[in-house]
Amino acid sequence: MITLGIEGTAHTLGVGIADSESGILANVLDMYRPPQGGLHPREAANHHADVVAPLIGRALEEAGLSPKDVDLVSFSKGPGLGPCLRTAATAARALSCRLGVPIIGVNHCIAHIEIGRATTGCTDPALLYASGGNTQIIAFSNGRYRIFGETLDVGIGNMLDKLGRELGLGFYAGPALEKLALEGDRLLELPYSVKGMDVAFSGIMTAALALRKRGCRLEDIAYSVQETCFAMLAEVTERAMAHVGKDEVLLGGGVAQNSRLKAMIAEMAEERGAAMYCPDRRYCMDNGAMIAWLGSIMHLSGVRMSMADTVVEQRFRTDEVDVTWRRSGCRRCGPVRRGSPTRGRWGTSRRRRSCDPHRSRLRPPPPA
Ligand code: ATP
Ligand code: FE2
Repeated sequence: MITLGIEGTAHTLGVGIADSESGILANVLDMYRPPQGGLHPREAANHHADVVAPLIGRALEEAGLSPKDVDLVSFSKGPGLGPCLRTAATAARALSCRLGVPIIGVNHCIAHIEIGRATTGCTDPALLYASGGNTQIIAFSNGRYRIFGETLDVGIGNMLDKLGRELGLGFYAGPALEKLALEGDRLLELPYSVKGMDVAFSGIMTAALALRKRGCRLEDIAYSVQETCFAMLAEVTERAMAHVGKDEVLLGGGVAQNSRLKAMIAEMAEERGAAMYCPDRRYCMDNGAMIAWLGSIMHLSGVRMSMADTVVEQRFRTDEVDVTWRRSGCRRCGPVRRGSPTRGRWGTSRRRRSCDPHRSRLRPPPPA
């Protein structure tokens, strides 16, 4: 089954094509970069409207397919910015009607988990999802993906971008701050904001800007911001893993490309005897392939949507979705519950087989 997925929750419009048998066939994207200042949702949506049709064409070309080969259209239903979500949803609806194929709206955060599970080989991880607009620790429990901790104010990436802009580093400042941090060696005092299982970042930004006003070096500020924020994330991720008994941690979201964050999470995992997984860069950032893949496995598990169900949800929570595609008997879907049919008579595990979505390991798209 061929699924074409459209991602458009924030500044990226991505189109991906997944084949349920052989994996990802195409993954193309175009990111809106504001000429100055922050991201304006309406302007980003106008960008998405301009690029979506050419990107659909490019994705089909990359996959070597024609429109009539598409069996299903999926799109990111939320969470995200209203105008951007509506643009991607409108394109998906138009394509679904034009081709006469079903449509399915998916949760963007769950798409990050599923593309990570499919491409890295991890089975039942806790996900640290750190992007521009989102910062959450998510794990599968009792049939749903539950949020164990999250940001109380802004996503970590948005904080890094805003801080970078104030410090004159331009938009999309995460990579620039990472580079600067390599030259820093003084750990400056910043508020360490962990509240229960949640984190907060805006106070850190205010404190970092105050340090700059007092004349501290940019390198030391970048270094201290990274050390403080990533330690907070490692702490809550570790606690979530201990709470739900997960021995795998998966990274997702644009900030997961940061080497220092990866190193800190890897160290935490190693100390717990757990394993860390991080998808290929193309699947860490927002992308259409993950939307196509999640649409595909949801459809195969029996989920169907009418046009009326495709209304976007700006605050779509991961724990609102019934995870119909994970089966306790699948060796890649997670723990075998006591008494489940794959459990042998004496509690020993019988050979577990992969469920439909996991018969084949996803193959990455050809390099751009
Ligand atoms: P979402 O809609 O899921 O919130 P997004 O639109 O913010 O995502 P992503 O591509 O997931 O898009 O993430 C972009 C963010 O990642 C930006 O805030 C950017 O600064 C940050 N980022 C990218 N690379 C790095 C890096 N090396 N270190 C830190 N942050 C990074
Ligand atoms: Fe994302």
